[in-house]
Amino acid sequence: MTAQRIDGKAIALKLRTELAAEVAALKTSTGIVPHLAAVLVGDDPASAVYVRTKHQACEKAGMVSTTHRLPATVSQSELLALIQQLNEDPTVHGILVQLPLPCGLDTTTILDAVHPLKDVDCFHPENVGRLVQNRPRFLPCTPQGIQWLLRESGINPAGKHVVVLGRSEIVGKPIGIMLLQKGLGADATVTICHSRTQNLAEITRSADILIAAIGRPEFVTAEMVKPGAVVIDVGVNRVEERLVGDVAFEPVSEVASAITPVPGGVGPMTIAMVLKNTLTAAKLSQTTTKQ
Ligand code: GUN
Repeated sequence: MTAQRIDGKAIALKLRTELAAEVAALKTSTGIVPHLAAVLVGDDPASAVYVRTKHQACEKAGMVSTTHRLPATVSQSELLALIQQLNEDPTVHGILVQLPLPCGLDTTTILDAVHPLKDVDCFHPENVGRLVQNRPRFLPCTPQGIQWLLRESGINPAGKHVVVLGRSEIVGKPIGIMLLQKGLGADATVTICHSRTQNLAEITRSADILIAAIGRPEFVTAEMVKPGAVVIDVGVNRVEERLVGDVAFEPVSEVASAITPVPGGVGPMTIAMVLKNTLTAAKLSQTTTKQ
């Protein structure tokens, strides 16, 4: 069997085209142009690439995008002051603080400072709480991208056993919660595995849908995958200048029924969801008054 290759690039492009039309319609009807403010601290090259990619995608969709660059030596209070200024700026709808932050900065305090109505990453505890209670304001970008990819590929998780590898706050935990919820594109039976999980391969082999988000290059081998399973690879690992996922793509393709490539799978969807959430934030700014 050779798995269907899920083309995240094409699915993301289709969504971005739809978003561009919605952005244009919002501008016509209200005069509002969605504005994403990205905060980039330090000079991590991968973070700079991510922020530039998001910036270009915003502009292509007709949104405004500004990038606030600060040196790695910035103090916590200076960074908090910038976030406060962006919170109070009515022309800014979404705020994205690119992670990881340089050491010396308290990531939790800084992310908590982003106004919940501008929290396009869905990192604020109020938004995470709403997500857990199945009344989301925003959906976190990578998990939302995965759910969208499944739907666009005609894969319904309802009643399926979804196994998530990784319990991160950004991907593993929220995608587990989202696919567990009652509702369309969800209703799965979910197992979340991590570094202390015992009999890992036994669990992964029982997955109808396997989501790998552990940041270990080619960790998932063909022996860990049930024949016919759907495999979603969230990994972005740099190995000798090459981008490699968490899944051994070629051998697993021989076992799975569908698989996302790296690059060109989940990555482009994350970018598209930043735009989608910025549009949502712009619409929210019309209907909700900030404190
Ligand atoms: N760094 C890696 N992934 C992410 C993400 O989803 N959002 C932000 N802000 N930074 C990241």
